[in-house]
Amino acid sequence: MLSAKDNELMCRTNLGTPMGQAMRHFWIPALLSSELPEPDCDPVHVELLGGNFVAFRDSEGKVGMLDEMCCHRGASLTTGRSENCGLRCIYHGWLFAADGTVLETPNVVDPKFKTRFKAKSFPVCEAGGVIWTYIGDPANQPPFYDFPFLDASDEKVLATVQIIGCNYIQILEGLLDSSHLSVLHISQFTKAALPDIKFVQNTGHMAHNSTPRIEAQETEFGLHYGAQREFGDTAETNVTAFISPFFILNPNDIYMAVVPMADDKCAFYAVWYDGVRDYGLEPLRSEQMRTVGLDRLEEYGMTRKTFYTAAAGSRANGFRQDRAQVKAGHHTGMGSFVQEDALICLSAGGLRDRGYEHLAPADMAIAQMYRVLLKSAKKVAAGGKPIAYQMSVANLRGGRFSVPVGTDWRTLVSGNLSEAKFVA
Ligand code: FES
Ligand SMILES: [Fe+2]
Repeated sequence: MLSAKDNELMCRTNLGTPMGQAMRHFWIPALLSSELPEPDCDPVHVELLGGNFVAFRDSEGKVGMLDEMCCHRGASLTTGRSENCGLRCIYHGWLFAADGTVLETPNVVDPKFKTRFKAKSFPVCEAGGVIWTYIGDPANQPPFYDFPFLDASDEKVLATVQIIGCNYIQILEGLLDSSHLSVLHISQFTKAALPDIKFVQNTGHMAHNSTPRIEAQETEFGLHYGAQREFGDTAETNVTAFISPFFILNPNDIYMAVVPMADDKCAFYAVWYDGVRDYGLEPLRSEQMRTVGLDRLEEYGMTRKTFYTAAAGSRANGFRQDRAQVKAGHHTGMGSFVQEDALICLSAGGLRDRGYEHLAPADMAIAQMYRVLLKSAKKVAAGGKPIAYQMSVANLRGGRFSVPVGTDWRTLVSGNLSEAKFVA
């Protein structure tokens, strides 16, 4: 159970909130590279931590991130035109470069007028199929991340994003909750033919044991979490890393980030990369997407373009649950893994109250995440730096191990996954 005060502290990230200030110390995933597919394509509305921005790719391919509202008289630049190496406001024609330089002000006679100010722009890095931005105080801007997938070639990486109408914590909770896999997703695991891909190899055993032994340990970057399921003499062990404030690394090949767009909606990024497989190429790309339901995001209103349409799950449409399918035996009546997870998060409400809940031993990692995030927000509120600020993340991974029953999962982590120091 979390007090209403701590719940607010952990969940709210708008400007001026302690958690929002903590997050503004980090580079944040803003959109996928594929959402700006070519020079001078349509600009994209980006919502981050309660703020509105516009991303565009200029005539030379460079990405710009500006405040959405035009600095002349506030028209939305999402309605603008990307042309002449800038983004043009369609109201009076002012043209802005990616760095905010005002290139043209056609309704002003004085040619010097445009040199007196700039549009508000934000630093951008494009890497790993993702466009990242930094919207915090320039004095706190950290070096860019060193995740291994950021230097990978396109064919090795599959980057995806889901847009979901709930607070970011609700998604993170699901990612630290091994025990729901064998219940919520049971109909997915029992599908006739699941392809032999890593996700299935890493999770298939979970369908047969719904009471994993779960432990979590605080680390200097956040926490490590071990889930062990016993099959005879073998303990099937999954280790997950949570890097505060929004990264989750699952066994071997999945890097995830859950970014608040506002307090009641978030963008959930998942990047597949293992350095070996061609996740960015067919047939693996489509196979991977299809297996977890990422090929059906539009249909369920889970893309940036469809999120504000009636396709998105809501109370009005029963969160898109197909009750006829449920009656016929399907556990959830939802498309696949990602639709099932979204259903749970959406149906709990935009920002759920945690004052009534009763956490079980299986929720140990979730409780630990609450502690990490609250500690980080309080550090920043007291004038310090957030947890994991400026840390190298190059050696952090999740892991999957088949080990003899009785093996302490912590020994697997410290030996094979990272140099991370454990905090008592
Ligand atoms: S409001 Fe954008 S040019 Fe006038
Ligand atoms: Fe799930």
